[in-house]
Formats: sequence, structure tokens, C-alpha cells
Amino acid sequence: MSKAVAGVLSSLDRVLLNAETIQRRVADMAREIERDFAGGELSVVTLMDGALFFVADLLRSIDLPVRLHTLTVSSYHGGTNSTGRVQMAQTLPFDLTTRHVLLIDDILDTGLTLATVRERILAECKPDTLRVAVLLSKRRQREREVPVDYVGFEIEDEFVVGYGMDYQGHYRNLPCIGILNPGRLPQS
Ligand code: IMP
Ligand code: MG
Repeated sequence: MSKAVAGVLSSLDRVLLNAETIQRRVADMAREIERDFAGGELSVVTLMDGALFFVADLLRSIDLPVRLHTLTVSSYHGGTNSTGRVQMAQTLPFDLTTRHVLLIDDILDTGLTLATVRERILAECKPDTLRVAVLLSKRRQREREVPVDYVGFEIEDEFVVGYGMDYQGHYRNLPCIGILNPGRLPQS
């Protein structure tokens, strides 16, 4: 392990999911998705930036033709609580008419982000099918219910970082997922 990663790890309260556990589950999810979309081409819409690492590993493990689209969405604005507002482009930058779409995010938390994006894609892009995948789903009351087809791990309602997920831009490149130590938050 590099010195930089070891330093960052020491500011975590604890590791929740280690790299090997994540990689194994992501490979299993890839098999489930391959089965469900067999014979077709997959159009992936991934929410940036948190899902970046998850999507990179997942898609390289899926043995199907894939087209990848990204959508930058934000609801946290650097803190550890959702602001309740979802910000994204005025016009969705892709054509998904008649496509088989898989919408991917890192975490299902309040549900606002995925519910908002999912409804916009259905209304504006008219895909043939639309399924949803998340790496993590927090056990908590949702503000919006979202039908999710693939869930990597169910976790408690705690703020997590690593494997793409950040706190004020920090921690994204950790290979594992951990819980922050509130006493040792990085200076922004
Ligand atoms: P929702 O709209 O509340 O479901 O929030 C989803 C978004 O909030 C995700 O796409 C994440 O980017 C972010 N988020 C939610 N929980 C966490 C967390 O524990 N760590 C880092 N980002 C989070
Ligand atoms: Mg996000």
C-alpha cells in the first residue's frame, strides 16, 4: 500500500468494505446484468462523479456491447447531508429512444437524485427499458421511492467515502469504502 493511501486510511473511523469484497460483488453484479440484458446492447447512463470507479470496474466486467453516457448531478455541495435539490443539465445530452438503458449511481440515500433523473430519462428520452443499479443502498427512510434492480451492498445510514465517493473532493481514490472519523476531517 502506498504511503499516501496509508495516510488517508488513518483518517477513517473504520473500513466498511475492503477492496477484495467490493471487486467480488461488482463481478457478481456484472453477471446478473449480462443475464438480464443478454442479446442486446446496453446503454449506460452514469451519474458523475461518485459512480466513476464503480462504473469503470463494472463495465469492464460486462461481456455485452455497451454505450456509455455520463451525467453530472449534484445534491450534496461538499457537505455530508443532501441539500434536497438536484442540479443537472437543462437538456439531457443523449438520445436513448428505443434503447435498453441502465442508470447507475454510487449510493441510494434519500432517493431524490435517482428518482429525479429516472423520471426525466423516461419522460424525455423514451427508452425501451430502463433499469437502475447502485453500488450501495443506505437503510433509511427515503424521501422518494425509486425502483432499483441491482444493489451491491445494503449499508447503515452513515457517511461513507472511497471507491469514488468523496468528502469535499477527498478520498475518491481509496480502493476500499470507509466511514469517516468526524474528529479527523480534512481541511477543505
Ligand atoms: P440522494 O439523492 O440523497 O439519494 O443522494 C445520492 C447522492 O448523494 C449520491 O449520488 C452520492 O453522490 C451522494 N451521497 C449520498 N450519501 C453519500 C455518502 O455517504 N458519501 C458520499 N456521497 C454520498
Ligand atoms: Mg452522486
